[in-house]
Amino acid sequence: MKSILFVGLVSTMMFAQPSAPTTYPDGELGKMVKLGEEIMLKTDTHPLTKDMVGNKLNCASCHIKGLDGKPGTADGIGSFIGTAAVFPAFSKREKTVQTLQDRINNCFMRSMNGIRPIVDTPASIAMATYITWLSQGIPMNMNAKAPVSEKNFKKWVSGQKRMAALIKKATHENYLNGKNLFEQKCATCHGMNGEGIATFPPLWGKNEKGEWLSYNTGAGMSKLNKGAAWVQSNMPLAQGDTLNDQEAVDIMLFVNAQERADFDLKKGLYPKEKMGYYNSNVHEEHHSVKSNFKEFGLDLEKIKTGK
Ligand code: HEC
Ligand code: HEC
Repeated sequence: MKSILFVGLVSTMMFAQPSAPTTYPDGELGKMVKLGEEIMLKTDTHPLTKDMVGNKLNCASCHIKGLDGKPGTADGIGSFIGTAAVFPAFSKREKTVQTLQDRINNCFMRSMNGIRPIVDTPASIAMATYITWLSQGIPMNMNAKAPVSEKNFKKWVSGQKRMAALIKKATHENYLNGKNLFEQKCATCHGMNGEGIATFPPLWGKNEKGEWLSYNTGAGMSKLNKGAAWVQSNMPLAQGDTLNDQEAVDIMLFVNAQERADFDLKKGLYPKEKMGYYNSNVHEEHHSVKSNFKEFGLDLEKIKTGK
């Protein structure tokens, strides 16, 4: 009995998800890892990235910090542990095989509502170096289906599918329920109008200067099914996996129905002479709050007003 218990314990220890490394590499490489980490914690104010960010978020707003305080080491969807091991990977969105830098830089146009950094510039290298450091010791396993880590991929696929089935059936009642739940479970940190409070990040809308506060309609988070899967896995902060599917769907139906920037791919790219090589086979892409609802057969106005 005792020995069975012992074997069980050892095997869970051996097969548990490897955790983040604790020591930085020596020399210049270590400095680059630290620079990437710093950028991800303050992307909107860091001198190397602030001009490419069009909202008040950081990478760490969605790639949640673990107990070690490092971006992307928490366990939920959006963890960076193992991410570098799946690249190069195929992206359906860009219809191309991407490197880790491509993947990182595309987030600037969408989640960060800004402009795509140029590949091989210091910020781009630094972020890729940090994410690669977090994946040390995890076997290479390139992903032919999506540019996401194996662990995130499993959670995304099952989460998105379940959520999509519920979203297609959504009505105004779900929106009202979502608003109610938002006010009870989210507004204490994110504000009644999604504006964010102190270091708790904004979810939608503009500030008094007319600047957009959060992710735009081209971001993964703005897609009703992906947003619901992410929120279920990570929110309320430190209480991931407490919302059931319907609650997560209703809350994100409410959140993603509010005002946020339209997405126009061309506006996220530097002019041709400056952008470097943009590794994508898709050169036109537009989304709005309305079109994100339409993707699931929903009429935004009907969902919001019941009429
Ligand atoms: C508003 C939330 C949000 C912000 C801010 C954000 N991301 Fe993401 N990121 C996501 C979501 C959601 C996904 C997965 C979605 C998908 O595949 O469409 C993702 C996926 C990724 C991936 C693929 C990793 C994997 O294994 O899943 C990388 C790399 C990444 N983001 C890097 C960044 C970097 C670097 C920044 C900051 C410049 C950033 N992200 C900012 C939400 C965000
Ligand atoms: C205890 C405070 C707290 C509560 C409650 C909370 N959040 Fe968050 N949320 C955070 C923090 C903090 C972050 C960013 C992570 C970081 O900076 O470490 C975040 C990030 C987010 C993000 C991604 C970043 C952005 O601003 O778009 C979304 C979306 C989100 N929360 C939605 C929700 C929803 C929906 C609920 C309710 C179910 C909720 N949160 C409840 C604190 C909270």
